[in-house]
Amino acid sequence: MLFYSVSQVNAYVDEVLEHLAAGRMTGKARYIHEQFVRAWSRMLGNRLTFECDEEETNYITRPDDAAVIYPAIVRASDEGQTCFIDAFACVGGDTLAAMYYFRQLPVHAVQLNDTPASEGRFARLAANVEHFNRMIPGRPKRGYAHGTDIHSFLCENTEILERSILYLDPPWTVDSAAATGISPLREIAAFLDAHVWRALRVCPGLIVLKLPAEAADVQDWPFLARHYSLADRVSPRGRFHVHIFQRR
Ligand SMILES: C[S@@+](CC[C@H](N)C(=O)[O-])C[C@H]1O[C@@H](n2cnc3c(N)ncnc32)[C@H](O)[C@@H]1O
Repeated sequence: MLFYSVSQVNAYVDEVLEHLAAGRMTGKARYIHEQFVRAWSRMLGNRLTFECDEEETNYITRPDDAAVIYPAIVRASDEGQTCFIDAFACVGGDTLAAMYYFRQLPVHAVQLNDTPASEGRFARLAANVEHFNRMIPGRPKRGYAHGTDIHSFLCENTEILERSILYLDPPWTVDSAAATGISPLREIAAFLDAHVWRALRVCPGLIVLKLPAEAADVQDWPFLARHYSLADRVSPRGRFHVHIFQRR
């Protein structure tokens, strides 16, 4: 069997994305996608199978991005955090990274599960999380997949928020920005306002936001400006920023 390094696989993924953008999925692109899936399982010791469809390859946090993002989150966190909440989990790129980099914390992965498409996605997330749980026999289960809207999850789990790390990788095309005339960043800000900030009765210890690189002024967003200070910002590959906020 042929194995590739994670960086080689990532280069191939860029090729897949070009194929997808052009609306064609050739046999080669499908093969590259499989290599990407294999890269995750290699990263996690060759013992994990990772389920992900072609479109989701577009969204998920790649292993090499995780290697930049997660050490920064670990540096900004302290002994006081008791769980990690991956609010927009998709198939679990970040969920698995969180389980991998935070060896002691329970990880809650929240993904909508209300349409046939999102149902399939949630099923893949749940399978990926279960695979990872089984990799660590004899230890308490650490990964939990929740098929629900993040707003409901936050309202119903207030007691775990204060000492949590809340990780937010929201959809970047929330609605039709072109149709509304509102910039995509303002759409994302409004989406987070409705689905996350308004659901928080208690402020999480750490909030991590993965956003397009153009979102330079997030620390001025009213909720964050009122309760948080920017602790760090990392930019894997320069295409997006990951902002790490600590509660004041
Ligand atoms: C950008 S993707 C996240 C990718 C993920 N971080 C990864 O690395 O695999 C955003 C996900 O949020 C989900 N989503 C959108 N609105 C949601 C909501 N209100 N509650 C929970 N999940 C939601 C979408 O279905 C999509 O799978």
